[in-house]
Amino acid sequence: MTSPTVASTRGELAELLGSARGAGHRSAFVPTMGALHDGHASLMQVARAEVGADAPVVVSIFVNPLQFGAGEDLDRYPRTWDSDLEVCARQGVDVVFAPSVDEVYPGGTPMVTVSPGPLAEVLEGRTRPGHFAGVLTVVAKLFGLVRPDVAVFGQKDYQQLVLIRRMVADLCLGVDVVGAPTLREDDGLAMSSRNVYLDGEQRRQAAALSRTLRAVQDAGADGLVAALDAARTELRSAEGVDLDYLAITTPELDDLTSRGERVERDDPDLPTGPARALIAARIGTTRLIDNLPLTLGPPSPAHPENHRGGDR
Ligand code: PAF
Repeated sequence: MTSPTVASTRGELAELLGSARGAGHRSAFVPTMGALHDGHASLMQVARAEVGADAPVVVSIFVNPLQFGAGEDLDRYPRTWDSDLEVCARQGVDVVFAPSVDEVYPGGTPMVTVSPGPLAEVLEGRTRPGHFAGVLTVVAKLFGLVRPDVAVFGQKDYQQLVLIRRMVADLCLGVDVVGAPTLREDDGLAMSSRNVYLDGEQRRQAAALSRTLRAVQDAGADGLVAALDAARTELRSAEGVDLDYLAITTPELDDLTSRGERVERDDPDLPTGPARALIAARIGTTRLIDNLPLTLGPPSPAHPENHRGGDR
């Protein structure tokens, strides 16, 4: 197991990547905020599979202040440098880019930022104003510094993934964005760096999120309304769970349900085909999100996750 080379400045990163680019390899990039777990390791495996054994895989570890709102967990966000490096080493990562805040934002908060548009005002954006502007701004900066051919993001942060794809398309950034399936604990809880905030009881309560999504996913089109109703009733009475939203959207995040209220049996406007069920809830002081793909109407062979076995 070889340790990755660590770059903490733009200059060091450019020097390290220069030689790999000279050799004509495609490079793959996994942006992270550290506190790496098996879910991140799986993103690194996807990155390696995308570019092959000889090409550089770069991981960034940077807790981006720009995407945290006032009162959020920027200060207590877990920082686990030694174990993060071990995860990267085990996955054969070549370069870890771990810049300081000053290195990324030398003049403080940047004057020019990425405006994520209306998709950032729904779901997560409704509760976390400014969050996606912060995410897209740092991702655009990191793309500019790393200049990857491929970048891998988890489907767990589905809205983030959709917005990053949109940014890359709308701003012609020329990076292939790959969305990797969510890894789950045995009881279905989506792996997340924030799960460490949960105590034993909260950890048990948190499993309600994936259980709910699964019930909605398994309901099929005919049972969707009843499944959403049942899920909402169950979650509202579930101890310790404070539901923010349970929504059904198209894969591009067009809202089909708002907070679930608008899905009606026999709704002629309800599209068929691939859709997404998304949930967010607070367990104690910890906000958790999760999502699953589902199919509205008859199963569509065009649903990519029907072929890949889906994110279950
Ligand atoms: O998903 C994350 O960890 C962060 O939002 C990202 C993409 C690394 C940007 O800071």
